[in-house]
Amino acid sequence: MPINLGVLISGRGSNMEALARYAAETANCPYRIALVISDQPAALGITRAQAFGIPALVRPRDANRGQAEQEAAVQQALDSKGCEMIALAGYMRRLSAPFLARWGAPKSRRVVNIHPSLLPAYRGLNTHARALADGAAWHGASVHLVDAEIDSGQVLAQARVPVLPQDTAAALAERVLAAEHWLYPHAVASLAQSLNAERR
Ligand code: GRF
Repeated sequence: MPINLGVLISGRGSNMEALARYAAETANCPYRIALVISDQPAALGITRAQAFGIPALVRPRDANRGQAEQEAAVQQALDSKGCEMIALAGYMRRLSAPFLARWGAPKSRRVVNIHPSLLPAYRGLNTHARALADGAAWHGASVHLVDAEIDSGQVLAQARVPVLPQDTAAALAERVLAAEHWLYPHAVASLAQSLNAERR
């Protein structure tokens, strides 16, 4: 039985789509996306999920709903679909320590994120512009376990791309994103496979 994966997004959802495509195209894929949750009502990723026939919900955080309430709503939705693992895919919120503790994260290896840099370099935002400004020769993406800090958990897998002489931040971002779309499904599949083995 594939691992039921919940994917949390905030926007475009191209990594979520890469995960969905891989699952659709891979025989005996060790995960299936059971649910996509966005904290942003207008996220393009919601439509992208629905195009794959994946249920997608919005669980916003706003003036009326603080972090604890929003996370409780996210947890309830994940539980309702029997989710066993979470992949963050452009989810622009830090998960609270109590939420992560409930998932046994990071030790359980059930909550992962993809970040557009070769961690530990360039945690946080604007990674492509920062790599260019530093004259880095290489840039890339990392899949890491999620803990209560930003982009700080154990790195599980990385993809490296060259920085080219004429690169703009946008061109570099595009090259890294293509690598992300390959890296994330493979890393999630590998983790799901080991979680599956633990079940037996
Ligand atoms: C990706 O670059 C990912 O590494 C970062 O946020 C971006 C999300 O893009 N965490 P998308 O929504 O998956 O297209």
